[in-house]
Order: sequence, then structure tokens, then C-alpha cells
Amino acid sequence: MTSIEPSRELIGFIGGGNMASAIIGGLIRQGVAPEHIRVVEPFESTRAALVALHGVQVEAAAGEFLRGTSLIVWAVKPQVFMEAAAPVRAVASNALHLSVMAGIRSGSIAAACGTQRIVRCMPNTPALIGRGMTALFAPAELDDKDRTRAEQVIRTTGDALWVEREEQLDAVTALSGSGPAYVFYFLEAMQEAGQKMGLSAAQARQLAVGTFDGASALAAASPDPLGVLRERVTSKGGTTYAALTSMEGSGVKEAFIRAMQAAQQRAVELGDEFGR
Ligand SMILES: NC(=O)c1ccc[n+]([C@@H]2O[C@H](COP(=O)([O-])OP(=O)(O)OC[C@H]3O[C@@H](n4cnc5c(N)ncnc54)[C@H](OP(=O)(O)O)[C@@H]3O)[C@@H](O)[C@H]2O)c1
Repeated sequence: MTSIEPSRELIGFIGGGNMASAIIGGLIRQGVAPEHIRVVEPFESTRAALVALHGVQVEAAAGEFLRGTSLIVWAVKPQVFMEAAAPVRAVASNALHLSVMAGIRSGSIAAACGTQRIVRCMPNTPALIGRGMTALFAPAELDDKDRTRAEQVIRTTGDALWVEREEQLDAVTALSGSGPAYVFYFLEAMQEAGQKMGLSAAQARQLAVGTFDGASALAAASPDPLGVLRERVTSKGGTTYAALTSMEGSGVKEAFIRAMQAAQQRAVELGDEFGR
């Protein structure tokens, strides 16, 4: 599933920002020839950066150079999708459309691009270093070949999983899409606490980041429930016990759950806004 067969297939990107660049880098590492990748990007310095970094073909506006693309990756901000769609539809309505745009629902993409061949996904920023965690969704009618193709492309940026219902992408947005910011927030708090307790900022940062990294790897490698992993390092009356009891007393977990529900609600609102 992780490797992409070198082929003459043309792949178009609408928007050449961070996410597009992460996926383009992944595709090229997997053997896709840069000259088979065509990017629409209105901002001149971003176009120059894409050429310098990846050697792909870039244009300021969608047009004939996208004709013949069998895959279109949508990586513009949701606000500009509607205006960007019309010129793409004219030349690429036969392609598989893979969207990384937050909030734009598959029905809106179908209507704007004149196709039912759609996969939506929600990546996150670690995709920029090949460590992304992406959830994918496709309407039931989409065939396995298109599903496999979309997953192959996304897997060049990290790990992937499928969700069965489109509204689950709003939960994914709240969990893994926005999740890196929660991790940074938690890391900041750990660093600040470390400094208050006498460590340097650099020491506290290294300890906090290394702990997240190691604990995440441990959780990924273990079949045990997360609560069991936590209990294993929490002996009654010990230091970790003191910290977790304090967190429980302050309602940290409930606050965290409420925060993620707020993110999910916002994702629903954005979907309603852009779907109009
Ligand atoms: N970054 C993330 O972690 C993340 C995670 C999940 C989902 N997403 C979603 O992925 C999408 C792209 O995000 P991003 O972080 O890659 O954003 P970004 O870096 O701002 O990239 C968007 C690019 O699209 C270009 N663009 C604007 N209007 C266009 C048009 N009409 N036609 C073609 N290109 C156009 C922009 O150019 P200008 O600079 O000239 O405007 C910009 O380079 C968004 O929908 C976002 O919600 C991002």
C-alpha cells in the first residue's frame, strides 16, 4: 500500500501550500516523476518555491495544462474552493478528486466539480515531515480502485485510516486535525512547569518533547488500553499519583473533552457555511 508504481499518470494539485507540498514531496519520494505533477498556485513566490523544491510544473490558474490528469488533489483554503472549482471542472471532471480541505462536504465537491469520484480526507501538520495521521472518507458508491489510489497518495505523508460516515470527519478534525496544537499546548505547560521548578527552558523542552515521543511510541507498540498504561506508572501514594490526583481535582479531563467538542462544533459550522 505504501509504494506508488511509477507511471505516466498526471496528478494535478489545486493550491500549492503546506499540505500540497507535503503530499507532492511524498509522491516524489515514492517514485512519481515531478514532470507528471501539475500545480495551480496563484502566488508567485510559492510557485517559485515549488519549482525549486520539487521541480514540478506550476501555473497561476487552472486551464488546459490540467487536461488528462487522472487525479486532482484539492489543497486550497475552503473559502476559495467555489471560485477555484469552475475552471478545474472544465478540464478535469473525469478525474478522481481527493480533497484535504477542511469542512467542504463531498456533496459540495460533487456539485462544484461535476463528479461523484470523490475522497475527502483530514490530514494534520506532522504530514510535513512524513509523520501525518490522516482519516479518509469516500461515498459508498466509490470503487475500491479509487479508494486504494487515494490511500496510497495519503500514505506518502504518514499513517491513514478510513471512517465510514462523513460526519465522523468533524470528530477527526477535532481530534487529529487540531490535535497537534493540543500537544504543543500541553508541551508548553510542561516546559513552563519545568522552568518554575528550576530547569532551563531548553532542558524542560527536551524532557517534555522526549517524554511525549517515548510515551506515544510505547502506546503505539502496546495492545493494552491507555488507562492500563497510565496505571502502570502510577503507584498509589507516589509522585505520578499526586500529579494525576491534582489533575482530576481540577477537572482537566472534562475540560479537555469540552474543548474538543467545541472544535467539532466549529467544524460542523464551517461545513454548513461552505456547503451553502
Ligand atoms: N495545514 C494543516 O495542518 C491542515 C490539516 C488539515 C486540513 N488542512 C486543509 O488543507 C487545505 C490547505 O491547507 P494548507 O495548510 O496547505 O494551506 P495553505 O498553505 O494556505 O495553502 C493553500 C494554497 O492554495 C492557494 N490558493 C488560493 N486560492 C487559490 C485558487 N483559486 N486556486 C489555486 N490555488 C489557490 C494559496 O495561495 P495564496 O497563498 O496565494 O492564497 C495557498 O498557496 C485547507 O483546506 C486546510 O483546511 C490543512
